[in-house]
Amino acid sequence: MTLFDRVFGGNDAVYGLTEGAIDGAIAQYGEDKAVSFPNTAYSLPCYYAVTGTKVTTLKELKEALGVVKTLMTREKRLNDAFMSGVATALCAEFIEVLKYIDGATPYEEPCYGHLADAVIRELGVPLVTGDIPGVAVILGAAPSVEEGVALVKSYQAQGILVTLVGGIIDQVAEAGMNTGANVRVIPLGKDVTAVIHVVSVALRAALIFGNVTPGDAGTLMKYTMDRVPAFVNAFKPLDDVIVACGAGAIALGFPVITNETENIFRVPKSLIVQEDVSKFNATSLEARDIKIKITNIDIPVAFASAFEGEIIRRKDMQVEFDGSRVDCAELVHTCDASEIEDHKITVVGPEVDDMELGSKNSIAYVVKVAGKNMQPDFEPVIERKFHNYINCIEGVYHTGQRDMQRIRISKTAFEAGFKIKHIGEVLYASVKNEFDAVVDKCEVVIYTDPAECTRVRHEVAIPIFDKRDERLDTLTDESVDVYYSCILCQAFSPSHVCVVTPERLGLCGAVSWLDAKATHQLDPNGPCQVITKERPINEELGSYEDVDEAVQKLSQGALEHVTLYSIMQDPMTSCGCFECICGIEPFSNGVVIANREYAGMTPLGMTFPEMASMTGGGVQTPGFMGHGKHFISSKKFMKAEGGIERIVWMPKELKEFVADRLNKTAKDLYGIDNFTDMIGDETIAEDPETLVAFLTEKGHPALGLDPMM
Ligand code: SF4
Ligand code: NI
Ligand code: NI
Repeated sequence: MTLFDRVFGGNDAVYGLTEGAIDGAIAQYGEDKAVSFPNTAYSLPCYYAVTGTKVTTLKELKEALGVVKTLMTREKRLNDAFMSGVATALCAEFIEVLKYIDGATPYEEPCYGHLADAVIRELGVPLVTGDIPGVAVILGAAPSVEEGVALVKSYQAQGILVTLVGGIIDQVAEAGMNTGANVRVIPLGKDVTAVIHVVSVALRAALIFGNVTPGDAGTLMKYTMDRVPAFVNAFKPLDDVIVACGAGAIALGFPVITNETENIFRVPKSLIVQEDVSKFNATSLEARDIKIKITNIDIPVAFASAFEGEIIRRKDMQVEFDGSRVDCAELVHTCDASEIEDHKITVVGPEVDDMELGSKNSIAYVVKVAGKNMQPDFEPVIERKFHNYINCIEGVYHTGQRDMQRIRISKTAFEAGFKIKHIGEVLYASVKNEFDAVVDKCEVVIYTDPAECTRVRHEVAIPIFDKRDERLDTLTDESVDVYYSCILCQAFSPSHVCVVTPERLGLCGAVSWLDAKATHQLDPNGPCQVITKERPINEELGSYEDVDEAVQKLSQGALEHVTLYSIMQDPMTSCGCFECICGIEPFSNGVVIANREYAGMTPLGMTFPEMASMTGGGVQTPGFMGHGKHFISSKKFMKAEGGIERIVWMPKELKEFVADRLNKTAKDLYGIDNFTDMIGDETIAEDPETLVAFLTEKGHPALGLDPMM
């Protein structure tokens, strides 16, 4: 048998199954029955991405199967094999969508099945920063549980997002391994067709971030090949169906690495035989050209970004530190180089061994830094990273910041020998590693002595925090001489540019003006560049000749004009990883905002994924704009259209999150008290009529404003 025979045979087999499944479903439910995946604006995302057609009913699904058939040509050419691979993948999507009929939830713990659009948007920033350097798709059962688990852990330790299909899922479960999106190991499903759920992520990334036109299959495949760093590890035995799926993966640019030696055909860089499973990791990274940043830190447990989302429950915890109950603090403090001994770590007070099991303790750590290029403005930027650094320790959990942080150390980490001083090691190594351009010397002092913690918190840290807050309050767009660009997301959205100002942070919510300034200082040729603001065109709109020139250059000519304060006229573009999306609501002359976490309906008749799909990929779409959560309370939010008084609806949780700051802004700008009480949410209205009635009753100011369209 040739490779062609195997691919075509596998494809035919899956096609037959799919046809049978669709006919069966039509017989059972009738052809008008609706079919859809939950929480996506892209219908059947793979079929939509490849053909540009949205499938909504079983009847259309059957028609779509006819289209799939046309891809299944049988010439013995490489392209025919690839297209049959794609056809196999589409059939898998059809089989999978049938499982979701009538709102069924076909997957149960630990399997995920279909992944929501919001999950993909969340992956945007970590993928562009290289925090997630790649995506592994592991298919089938490893030769032994140990080898399977070792492979998964090897990727996890590198921060690679791992998806599992088939027998490997039971293997990691048998070993008691913790899985889930929060630790970057996602079991998709046990049937081979579940592999489509990761393909669906890759193809939606192209639609969400890449502005690829649905139906433009050529551009789509080029996008995944160039920009989605995925690869497949398939364990033997490979049947023809898996071989056909593999052809589909290769068509998208994802190399397949297998330990199968029987009846397999090697394709350089694409279909690679590696008999030694312990070498799968190295072979895969080489084939996909993935580079791993190595941070070697001398601690007795693992340190990797994959552990960032790990949660430690009370019963698994050795000790905790809790700034909301006892005095705690975390602080970066700039010192003179002569005051610092590099890499010195001091613990003042008891070590973990001296603390009672399950006890709540004080902790305060001061990271002293010195460097010729260090500026006090960078202190909060570095400090904010402590959360990520400490969270990356396996078995250690961190939330909060400043004097309100909370840390838990697990029993397992304690038993492995983890000590307080290791927190110092992690902070030292991470700060030196990431901020080497500004930090020449670094020393860490960790206090666990309660009296010392009280002193550090009240006499050292709080006065510094207060001073910083004063500085932030005076940081306005008018008070600074320059803005910054950020083009990190161009890795996925080639023409997207964020213009970051003191009062408008990046739409991902992760890049403030101070962050951008520090990023520029750390890497002068990097993603954040200075934008001068010497030639204003219109202060109301926030348009500048300098800004226009910068975005023209940075978008390679795709953008000509961008305003900072308008959602209607030349609004800023969106890449796709925005925290929130706002869109105009014509009946109230206002705007509706939804955040990524919100799963319900909005009065626009659209969910977050549907609103989000209206913009992205670096194009301008007047009327819709992606933005960060903190931008909502900014005095510059839609300033050109009247500002925050246009906000008529937000999900309750988001409203509560922004309430204090938003109310303060409303009071400052318009003298309105408790403005958030006038804003609708899902408990008040999910349709425009009810919303307008509510706004009328509350006397919401938007009703009196000019229409935006
Ligand atoms: Fe991406 Fe903009 Fe955030 Fe930069 S600021 S990471 S370009 S969303
Ligand atoms: Ni106190
Ligand atoms: Ni982005």
